Amino acid sequence: MAKRRQIIAGNWKMYKTIPEALRFIEELGPKASDLPLSVYLAVPYTAISEAARAAEGKKILIGAQNMNDASEGAFTGEIAARMLTDAGARFVLLGHSERRHIFGETDAMIHLKLLRALESGIEPILCVGETKPEREASKQFAVVEEQLKTALAEVKDLKKIVIAYEPVWAIGTGVTASPADAQEMHRHIRSILEGMGGGDISILYGGSVKPENAAALMSQSDVDGLLVGGASLSIEMFVEIVASATMSDLKTEGKS
Ligand code: PGA
Repeated sequence: MAKRRQIIAGNWKMYKTIPEALRFIEELGPKASDLPLSVYLAVPYTAISEAARAAEGKKILIGAQNMNDASEGAFTGEIAARMLTDAGARFVLLGHSERRHIFGETDAMIHLKLLRALESGIEPILCVGETKPEREASKQFAVVEEQLKTALAEVKDLKKIVIAYEPVWAIGTGVTASPADAQEMHRHIRSILEGMGGGDISILYGGSVKPENAAALMSQSDVDGLLVGGASLSIEMFVEIVASATMSDLKTEGKS
């Protein structure tokens, strides 16, 4: 079985100007150079072009946080996949919980975006995850299965996709899923993907990842990486997360 890719991704949300982004990439560059894992940064649209240029020759991939599903058109304020690739974005977050819950994105919309991203040659990171009431009602596995199956319907080449499991109750709250809970859901996601022929897809965990919990989460056998929000805004914290994730991965046996 091919080794799954290990990815530590930062999601900057609506933070950082262009100079702030460039300073961060300058500092991160040397620290990311010899790692056995990939470092991704989902930056604001305005910073993509310059950030991508600054990341050239460094082991950092720049991406976006959202896109429209249309190839182009009269959609004021929206952005197309080909504009993102044109600016230098290599990946895009799709279906982040803030897009779903604040901006009303549905599984059907996310499905269309995913198809467009694949067609446009930009790597989608599909975000899934249950809300607190859904977990309290023990519906988390069914909810995530539905999100995955709707978004991934008709997708032929699952290898080009990354999944991020982000329980909504853990995002920006300081409450992380326990490593065991994360592993349980990642295993569930893996078995659904296996049924679709995509058992080798990387599955990241996101939701209040911090330097203190990164290693324990990464050491779980089905956790292939982390999607970091708040803590990715601080270069010190992000570097610490990347370092502890790397060490925990080297220690973990059987992750292949
Ligand atoms: P958080 O955000 O790390 O601040 O909880 C994660 C995310 O929204 O991707």
